[in-house]
Amino acid sequence: MFELTYTSLATITIDNSQLVRIEKISKQRNSELDVTGCLFYHAGRFIGILEGTEDALEMCFANTKQDTTYKEVSILAMGRILERQFDQWNILFCSKEDKNDAEYRLLLENLHALTELADKRTYGSRVFWGAVQEELQGVEAI
Ligand SMILES: Cc1cc2nc3c(=O)[nH]c(=O)nc-3n(C[C@H](O)[C@H](O)[C@H](O)COP(=O)(O)O)c2cc1C
Repeated sequence: MFELTYTSLATITIDNSQLVRIEKISKQRNSELDVTGCLFYHAGRFIGILEGTEDALEMCFANTKQDTTYKEVSILAMGRILERQFDQWNILFCSKEDKNDAEYRLLLENLHALTELADKRTYGSRVFWGAVQEELQGVEAI
């Protein structure tokens, strides 16, 4: 079993409908490949972690890199793991779109709590949650 943590900047402005499309397609394909993990998005930056067999990660990452919304993909960590830190593959996004101030504040609080409480028993998961925390520190409080 392997894990792969990566980051990328979007070439175009990503709105919620595009994220929902990425979520739908990736959820389906990743579950077929038995790939788990998480994709975080905020303000043009993606941070992702994928877990699965080496072959499955290669296929999954090839799909990811093919997407033209990517500027460049940097690998932050890659290595062998003994157990998964994620049950499924999910997307987390932090965006003010469609939310009032109270809803947005609650979302930020929940995301902060999640980064604290999440399992971080592998190097890649620590790198992933650390990068998400860093990104959230840059989010303006309302
Ligand atoms: C940041 C980002 C992460 C993605 N992660 C995955 C992934 O984990 N698995 C996957 O199959 N596709 C992934 N994709 C690709 C999308 O699922 C999909 O290929 C894309 O939305 C284009 O769809 P198309 O097949 O219609 O061209 C990712 C795309 C982006 C931009």
